[in-house]
Amino acid sequence: MIRVAIDGPAGVGKSSTSKALARHFGFAYLDTGAMYRASAWWCMKQGLDLDGSEADERQITETVADLFAQGHIDIDLDPDRAGITVDGQDISEDIRSSEVSSHVSTVSSIIPVRHVLIAAQKAYIAAENDESSYSHGAGIVAEGRDITTVVAPDAEVRVLLTAREEVREARRLGQSVQGIGTDDVAARDRADSKVTSFLKASDGVTTVDNSDMDFKQTLDVLIGLVEDAE
Ligand code: C5P
Repeated sequence: MIRVAIDGPAGVGKSSTSKALARHFGFAYLDTGAMYRASAWWCMKQGLDLDGSEADERQITETVADLFAQGHIDIDLDPDRAGITVDGQDISEDIRSSEVSSHVSTVSSIIPVRHVLIAAQKAYIAAENDESSYSHGAGIVAEGRDITTVVAPDAEVRVLLTAREEVREARRLGQSVQGIGTDDVAARDRADSKVTSFLKASDGVTTVDNSDMDFKQTLDVLIGLVEDAE
């Protein structure tokens, strides 16, 4: 099985390229950011206050642990669907709202919350070797902020996908024109980089700076890296 770990800041195009990469090879696709977003969405739905200093870390941790332990959440690893449902409700679009984007770092910065999600992510990756899995052991592309370093540091392919800040800002603005909620990307990266290390590649991780590449060029570079590892 080939495990492809892709980390990088917000607005670099990680999700769309990772999804296309998974589709190209018939691999499963795991969007770990969606799991943190779903956790923030769930806490908000339970009425918890996620506004900075008011946030109750213990209560948030218990609420997120409940989301994963009680089987409320279901994540589809098929890159063509890549849906996420909670108690049967498809929340794939709701978790992209500006409100979730601007509160997600409060949730993801709580270390016990990270432990819950990291364990779930490792289990999803390990399960891809099973007969009943989406990829039947062919492979998985997992993307986020700490996949190359914490979730799958022994992955066959490890990439830090990055781009200059003004380029990422412009890409996010393009998304908001298409009706996808946007937020202050730079502020979120600053908050996120206090707990995860995705601004600099760690040892053995290949940096791909796609500032001057289009979608197809970025995808081709990643396809090449996976082919080299096969
Ligand atoms: O990738 P995306 O922008 O959807 O991630 C949403 C948020 O989830 C990030 O801003 C970060 O706070 C959190 N995250 C994380 N670790 C990951 C993936 C996402 O902390 N592996």
